[in-house]
Amino acid sequence: MNLLNHVAIIMDGNGRWGLRYKNSRNLGHKEGLKTVEKIIKSSIRNKIKFLTLYAFSTENWKRPKKEINYLFNLLENFLTSRLDDIHNQKIKIKILGYKKFSKKLNNLLNYAEKKTIKNTKLQINLALNYGSKLELINAFKEIKRGKIKINEKNLEKYLQTKNIPDPDILIRTGNTKRLSNFLLWQLAYSEIFFEKKLWPAFTEKDYIKIIKEYKNIKRNFGRI
Ligand code: IPE
Ligand code: IPE
Ligand code: MG
Repeated sequence: MNLLNHVAIIMDGNGRWGLRYKNSRNLGHKEGLKTVEKIIKSSIRNKIKFLTLYAFSTENWKRPKKEINYLFNLLENFLTSRLDDIHNQKIKIKILGYKKFSKKLNNLLNYAEKKTIKNTKLQINLALNYGSKLELINAFKEIKRGKIKINEKNLEKYLQTKNIPDPDILIRTGNTKRLSNFLLWQLAYSEIFFEKKLWPAFTEKDYIKIIKEYKNIKRNFGRI
């Protein structure tokens, strides 16, 4: 049986769900947040230590301003109203990606990270304005600047996932099979699950099914 330490999720399909059931992409994002809460609770119950959630990519800036504003408002309201609860549950928040948002949101994200830094129950890595290619380019720039030897170990020290083990599982909901610039280096040996359901429709039952399936996979890492 494989141990499960780290789950990464591409939470895709909010827009389509919203359009289909509420005639609004934004209401799909709102509903998607409910799934986030369910999956956080279930991760704790399943003793998962790291949960990485792809919430906004470096490419998502190409979306209409109205949708982008809605998403960041949603995040701001969520963190403002739930941070104490998150902290009480001993959850640690870490942002992956570059904090280039409004001053208010940047401050809030920094505050959430600082407040929860010592928590050890579950670490949530929230990928926000995250892009794997940008992360790798910046890591190589740093290595070059420091005249540091290029090898796996050194490169990993300059990734935003420094000190975070690689994901055991990647889940992508929303019925598309692609990585969309997410953790290209870190997913080298992850078990990948593409889920047809849209993110707001994804349930704890679906999550548990994936976890069970993962536990029985023979992971080779190149061996036989
Ligand atoms: C994923 O859902 C969430 C974000 C990118 C913020 P989408 O908004 O991409 O939903 P679809 O893929 O358009 O349905
Ligand atoms: C990936 O979803 C990014 C997030 C879930 C945050 P997208 O909906 O942006 O991916 P593409 O554009 O369909 O590949
Ligand atoms: Mg999408």
